[in-house]
Amino acid sequence: MKDKKILITGGAGFIGSHLVDAISKDNHVVVLDNFSSGKKENLSQHLQNPFVTIFEGDVRDKTLLGKITKEIDVVYHLAVQCLRVSIKDPETNHEVNATGTLNLCMASMENNVKRFIYVSSSEVYGTAKSVPMTEDHSLEPTTVYGASKLAGELYTLAYYRTYGLKSMVVRPFNTYGPREHFEGAYGEVIPKFVLRVLNNMPPIIFGDGTQKRDFTYISDTVRGIIMASECDDMIGQTVNIARGKEVSISDLANIIGEKLGKKNLKPVYERKRPGDVMRHYADISKAERLFGYKPEIDIRDGIGRYIDWFTDQNYNLSELMKQDVVFNW
Ligand SMILES: NC(=O)c1ccc[n+]([C@@H]2O[C@H](COP(=O)([O-])OP(=O)(O)OC[C@H]3O[C@@H](n4cnc5c(N)ncnc54)[C@H](O)[C@@H]3O)[C@@H](O)[C@H]2O)c1
Repeated sequence: MKDKKILITGGAGFIGSHLVDAISKDNHVVVLDNFSSGKKENLSQHLQNPFVTIFEGDVRDKTLLGKITKEIDVVYHLAVQCLRVSIKDPETNHEVNATGTLNLCMASMENNVKRFIYVSSSEVYGTAKSVPMTEDHSLEPTTVYGASKLAGELYTLAYYRTYGLKSMVVRPFNTYGPREHFEGAYGEVIPKFVLRVLNNMPPIIFGDGTQKRDFTYISDTVRGIIMASECDDMIGQTVNIARGKEVSISDLANIIGEKLGKKNLKPVYERKRPGDVMRHYADISKAERLFGYKPEIDIRDGIGRYIDWFTDQNYNLSELMKQDVVFNW
């Protein structure tokens, strides 16, 4: 993709900001974000970039969406309210994730957007019934978040089938890397473990640690999203983007302990998070077949890269630790 006008919702977030970095090299990018979990510093490298325009606004604002999608060629829709917040506030979650997606489909159709990429989530599957999980695996989300992401998928594809909006669904699995959230309700498992271990505190595992995830490094996820979006055969289709390997949360804690030379800090086990999925392990053969996707970074390499980035930030570790909320849902 070159010289196009691209809208990225949620562009100040973890994955969205990396997508902005990649896509703004050859295109004009408009970011729409309400900065609820996204951060201005994730886009600080673009403040003087004439090819990146940042709008503070909300995907629930239909008037704004009508204006912002004018003359846009391609939409990448990533704005989301996160899973853990959905547990306390299911209604807002539905409004942002499901209704927000419908709003954006409507505005994109009205303004003749040429391609619409909905960034969904492996959470739409619920716990694996068979592995590796193909795109045809049953869809039984355990949380309102997963259900709202699934509603977004269904609206996206209904807009293709009924109105001909050239849309597609990309389902990333758990993604990690630089700029991933460690703070409060948004804190994800890898940054939380790294922060605790760097503070000489044991990682805290919710449940028995046998839960498994298909952890995918950010550069592999972003490359997968872009490759899918450029593939004509993806119109009206859904595809998994993942590493294609599973890792248990206990093993993840051990890898982090080992990488930081603190294997002595044995994990502490606490009550499980409501609705926590037990197993995710993706079949990525469709992505490979349709557009030659191959992940490059394995978990040990990726954790090493993340730790290098984290330590390079020169964070005040004890101050950051104060922002950690143990039971963050
Ligand atoms: N991080 C993962 O492991 C992962 C895995 C699978 C799928 N995804 C999907 O990738 C996308 C991005 O996730 P992320 O991890 O970068 O999350 P994130 O929280 O870092 O990013 C979401 C962004 O959306 C913005 N936002 C929230 N509500 C909004 C609203 N009402 N209007 C406008 N902007 C709003 C936030 O401020 C934030 O910048 C999401 O759609 C998510 O479902 C993420």
